[in-house]
Amino acid sequence: MTYSDKAKKILYGGDYNPEQWEENVWEEDMRLFALAGIDIVTLNVFNWAALQKDEESYSFDRLDKIMDLVKKNGLKVCLATSTGAHPAWMAKRYPDILRTEADGKKRKFGGRHNSCPNSPTYRKYSVRLARELAKRYQNYENIVAWHISNEYGGECYCGQCEEAFREWLKGRYHTLDALNRSWNTAFWGHTFYDWDEIVLPNLLSEHFGDERTMFQGISLDYRRFNSESMQHCFEAEYRAVKEFTPDLPVTTNLMGFYKNLDYRKWSESMDFISWDSYPSNQDSRAQMALSHDLMRGLKGGNPFVLMEQTPSVTNWQAYNALKRPGVMRLWSYQAIAHGADAVMFFQMRRSIGACEKFHGAVIDHAGHENTRVFRETAALGKELEKLGGELLGGRTPAETAILFDWENWWAVEYSAGPSCELKYYDEVRSYYEALHEMNIATDIVGTKEDLSHYKVVIVPLLYMTKPGVDEKLRSFTQNGGILIVTYFSGIVDEHDLVITGGYPGRLRDILGIWVEETDALSFGAENRFSYGRGQYPAKILCDIIHTEGAEVLGVYETDFYKGTPVITRNSFGQGQAYYVGTRSDGGFYAGFLGEILQQAEIHPVMETPEEVEAAERRNGNGAYIFLMNHADQEKKVTAAEKFVELLSGEVYNVGEMIMLPGKDVKILKRQE
Ligand code: GLA
Ligand code: ZN
Repeated sequence: MTYSDKAKKILYGGDYNPEQWEENVWEEDMRLFALAGIDIVTLNVFNWAALQKDEESYSFDRLDKIMDLVKKNGLKVCLATSTGAHPAWMAKRYPDILRTEADGKKRKFGGRHNSCPNSPTYRKYSVRLARELAKRYQNYENIVAWHISNEYGGECYCGQCEEAFREWLKGRYHTLDALNRSWNTAFWGHTFYDWDEIVLPNLLSEHFGDERTMFQGISLDYRRFNSESMQHCFEAEYRAVKEFTPDLPVTTNLMGFYKNLDYRKWSESMDFISWDSYPSNQDSRAQMALSHDLMRGLKGGNPFVLMEQTPSVTNWQAYNALKRPGVMRLWSYQAIAHGADAVMFFQMRRSIGACEKFHGAVIDHAGHENTRVFRETAALGKELEKLGGELLGGRTPAETAILFDWENWWAVEYSAGPSCELKYYDEVRSYYEALHEMNIATDIVGTKEDLSHYKVVIVPLLYMTKPGVDEKLRSFTQNGGILIVTYFSGIVDEHDLVITGGYPGRLRDILGIWVEETDALSFGAENRFSYGRGQYPAKILCDIIHTEGAEVLGVYETDFYKGTPVITRNSFGQGQAYYVGTRSDGGFYAGFLGEILQQAEIHPVMETPEEVEAAERRNGNGAYIFLMNHADQEKKVTAAEKFVELLSGEVYNVGEMIMLPGKDVKILKRQE
């Protein structure tokens, strides 16, 4: 069940907080929404305290009025359950709802996303509220989706989490023997004889500094447990709303590359993916696209909802620059091009108090429609109206995939050694960026996905090889796929226990190599290697490799391992497995991947000049290429086939010039 089933067009709207305003303002909002082409509002995101003033009494009168008003005005509703921030009275009466921080400090009431996921009080009252809401609004046919809580995240280290963690461990390991083995507790004499001896890994126990741990095994399990604890909160509310509205799809707003929660696992509990995109000013267009692709990949390439983006500015960065004219439109289309079926904002009307009063909104403090931001919003509203439902449900035809695994992310960055500079995201991003700049459609997949329909699969820095992953990569390659694995892969199993017998462990036969040692280069230091006709930098880590059947394509240029392999290729079954034994730069990734794509006969969506992105979606109505000019200057693209532009109706014949003013977007429908 997806959200698009309920929509006839790309829905357009966002978080609307009328509870912060007097009723006379609401009517004016309705007028302005109509002017801007808004057709959906997310309601009731942070409203718990207003809905419930004590254990038993719920007051829905004001929400009823809002629900009736938006319905009367033809707006669809994404209805939130308000459980992202608990009421002050609840925290006072039931302190078990308050979180404890990593340093053992118990929080008081304040902020938001502040409830302990294992608090009996939170579980009880959040689920009850969700149920009450579903019961009350079950017959509002303008509701298109449920939005459970808001941006789940963070961690809790309280006593009840500790007890729940022990129970969770019993479920996972059954015996203390098994647990002791999996965590290698013989190290430093940590053997446990009773489950009660186990305490949460935090700054009072195994952790130190910023995300460092002395025992990776327990820390990884805590992350899994914490992510699952929050997922259980989501699932409990999910079940509550489904009792009354079994046909309404349910989501919660994710945050892209958010490290603490294993979204891949979460996605199994969600009906559709929605997420909040807040790139910082430094983020590249490739980074934004990568996050969209990550989110699209969570549900096998099904469309997602852009639940939040700012129409103009954020409040929480050090320097909150305005989105330049045209940028909101450009980034909205970029989300659509990468799989979004709805474009939504935080927020519709700007608050007057507290920390988000300078966060951008469709309706500014000025209160009227004569603002740049409103005009740009309304202009996009018109376009989306025009596009109607034509693009809905479109999928990305990708032949290339990059593997991304949350548990590996945790593990590689918990690792003490070989280098503090090892960053999983950076490694993934380098490969993605090179593909993105060549307009190669790429899926981001997890360890369980079917890989058989890809021609090329890139596996960056897969330090942790969980059971089954090597088999998957082995059969993918055997059956003719091209596999690319990078340095420091195949080192440990799912418990962070080293796979002995030679690195890269279970991947060794596929790659036809043995990595004997790994050298960490100090900050800013570089080795070099030759590959093809060029020389490239080797950074952060250098694997020292022996071939065991693989061909050598590149060798180090300096140091005691000068002349030894760094880039290798192994013929394996009908396929090929490449190994890149170090981190390099964009020049290398572009050249290296360029050759592989050629060999695999994977073609760019379209040839474009620099800073013009081309991305494609296909559905039953046709194939659509989004041309997006991220530059300020005008760019020209040659039409390689015949196209009709959806917004202008213009026809481009083969060889004709497509002019793209700075920041402009064209949506080209392929013609037979
Ligand atoms: C998040 C939240 C919103 C709001 C925005 C501000 O995405 O979900 O409630 O706080 O950030 O950028
Ligand atoms: Zn807790």
